[in-house]
Amino acid sequence: MPELASVNGVVTPIEEATVPIEDRGYQFGDAVYEVIASYGGRLLAFEAHLQRLTRSMKALAFAPMPLDSLRGAVVGLFERAEIARAAVYLQVSRGVAPRNHAYGAAMDPQIVITVREVVEKPAELRERGAAVITVPDERWQRCDIKTVQLVPNAMAKQKALDAGAFDAIFISREGEVREGTSSNLFAVRDGCLITHPLTPNILPGITRRLVLDICRRERLTVEERIFLEDDLFAADEVFLCGTITEVLPVAAVDGQPIGDGGAGAITKRLYDGLLALAVGTG
Ligand code: PDD
Repeated sequence: MPELASVNGVVTPIEEATVPIEDRGYQFGDAVYEVIASYGGRLLAFEAHLQRLTRSMKALAFAPMPLDSLRGAVVGLFERAEIARAAVYLQVSRGVAPRNHAYGAAMDPQIVITVREVVEKPAELRERGAAVITVPDERWQRCDIKTVQLVPNAMAKQKALDAGAFDAIFISREGEVREGTSSNLFAVRDGCLITHPLTPNILPGITRRLVLDICRRERLTVEERIFLEDDLFAADEVFLCGTITEVLPVAAVDGQPIGDGGAGAITKRLYDGLLALAVGTG
């Protein structure tokens, strides 16, 4: 079960894969990406990830690319790696060209794919919940496009780890709760779920959408609306959701416990619902 990389179709072990130094992803962060998880050898919400990638590419005016070739490249590498519980990373950069801010005429997009084993989160973290810190959202104003420009996310995540926490939550200048460094966020108050609406300020998470689908099915009330940091502290439950994060309870924000401090009943229900979807029983 080898962990593999593919660079424009050339397959190697990950540590042997290289890209040209004038790849615009490398020099300008001019690339978009997806992370797709598999459960029992089955990719979860693969088509939704491909659709979002297409949207990101369009938003950055990349040369159009046939979806079938991307789909085939991902499936080919995933099957070759034979890793049942994998994280598939798919990155498309605008292309390779002599360094110049302007990109001018269309160039051939470069496709990088890796397949790695998912490192599962400790059961204790899932049961007791994660501590998070809040950080000012200093990212650009198109966080709905999934680009590889992740320095603010990386710095916020490191700040959280340095503070002994698991993750950081981006808060706008106005005190609005946005999302985690690689996940979306839900709060639960009096049985009602609240999450940031889809605006350019957050990523339209695939897991967020799956969670909303489960809520609809289970007749849970959800409000997609702006809410404030104070609402977070007053919540009964808070959880993060994302492809690798899955549904993860938040036990404390900036050292203040949320609800009873452990995984809440609704969070647990949604985690179970997500896993059922993932393994094909939901
Ligand atoms: N990140 N918000 C941000 C900023 C993210 O980077 C991600 C995903 C999400 C959740 O989206 P999804 O449910 O589609 O995974 C929300 C990926 C996993 C990453 O950067 O590794």
